[in-house]
Amino acid sequence: MALPVSFNYDNTLEKAVGKEGLRAEDLRSGEEAAERAVQAFAQRVESGEIGFPVLPEDKQTVRAIAEFADSMRKSVDDVLLVGIGGSALGAYAVDMALRGPHPIQNAYGASKVARDGATRPRLVVLDNVDPGPIAEALERLNPKRTAVCVIAKSGSTAETLATFLIVREWIYKAIGKKARGRIIAITDPKKGDLLQIAKEEQYPLFFVPENVGGRFSVFSPVGLLPAALTGVDIQKLMRGAADANKVCWKPKMKDNPALASAVIHHALDRWQEKKIEVVFAYSSYLWGSAFWYRQLWAESLGKAQNRKGKAVNVGQTPVAALGVTDQHSQVQLYMEGPHDKMITFWDVEKPRVDLRIPKDLGKYESAKYLNGKNLSALFRAERIATEAALTRANRPNCRWTLTRVDEYTVGMFFQMLEFQTAFAGELYGINAFDQPGVELGKKLTYGLMGRKGYEEFAKGLKL
Ligand code: PA5
Repeated sequence: MALPVSFNYDNTLEKAVGKEGLRAEDLRSGEEAAERAVQAFAQRVESGEIGFPVLPEDKQTVRAIAEFADSMRKSVDDVLLVGIGGSALGAYAVDMALRGPHPIQNAYGASKVARDGATRPRLVVLDNVDPGPIAEALERLNPKRTAVCVIAKSGSTAETLATFLIVREWIYKAIGKKARGRIIAITDPKKGDLLQIAKEEQYPLFFVPENVGGRFSVFSPVGLLPAALTGVDIQKLMRGAADANKVCWKPKMKDNPALASAVIHHALDRWQEKKIEVVFAYSSYLWGSAFWYRQLWAESLGKAQNRKGKAVNVGQTPVAALGVTDQHSQVQLYMEGPHDKMITFWDVEKPRVDLRIPKDLGKYESAKYLNGKNLSALFRAERIATEAALTRANRPNCRWTLTRVDEYTVGMFFQMLEFQTAFAGELYGINAFDQPGVELGKKLTYGLMGRKGYEEFAKGLKL
């Protein structure tokens, strides 16, 4: 049976885009490397080093989260997520995919009952520490009807702790000790200050498995709890992820879209110097997912050294673009600029709703040809045209297609993209699961903010 998520790379090949494309021998060597990559990654999962592929098997956690969320959902209008990076982007992506992007969201504090009658509290993500939006959110939210999810795997991220202290004071002031039942902490099961704080203050606690890193944690409580609280069917989401697993371990590119995509991305970087990947999402619902993916691809693959300690400085730079909006902003560059990019289209076959373009103003040629057509037909035509134009300009492009955007396909797509990233890590020979490059910046911040033990790092810097 055809999967509801598929990958097509015809337009990355030499026969489609000439000398900018992949040759038969690139594909052959990619195919061989792919089998080794699957084996190598399987060993890391079997040894327990890497945990994201087994998350969909943990039905007990999913049930516990769904039950917890069901018991809380009716008493809250908003779910305030305090977290950053991998502790925020997955929940944000799921929310935008399933509820819909701005301007569909209601203003803070407005009705939480969705069109289908289900209770769907709104998700408000406080990831950045720009004070303005945090102050505005707290001014408008009702602390008596807000659940706070504080999420930090390390338990000590500066931005999360700072915002949490502000949010904690806000909610305690309004509801006193009752806040303890309204603050839910998600963190490492064994270590970190957030774990201690949550235990001391008796918050409900959920854990990120030790072998699951932030950007791979969307199917752990990090992504699932905010989703469940806001009314997402997390069982369906996880069924999609579990069904992705059924193909993601297959060793042949033709049977495994995640593997094929990893090989194509890696080969275009390696053989054709495509150092930039433009993710061109032809769905406003998937716009948040493009930002989640941007982190996944960048932080996982951008590495100075390979696993043998040799300097390699690899990693494609992911760029998020929105179809059709960015046709009027970016496509000129993609068509005629440097030959350093590959484009990955994200296409959705069935729109959630459609609109008929009225048969009006037909005396004008600019309106006549549109009269009576579906708006989704124009949307689709624009994607097909952009893809064809880029191909004719010898710009390699590939495409992920989702039949629709719902819990099941989103679960499957995200899991495939995580596998794609893990396989790409194996192909580059780097560790896709660490992020040593962000450590120095963190230490300098600690030094500037006066954290004990980091004084040396702030030398020569001024706040
Ligand atoms: O993917 C990652 O590991 C990072 O992006 C982290 O998610 C991010 O730095 C936040 O870390 P923490 O969850 O410890 O606050």
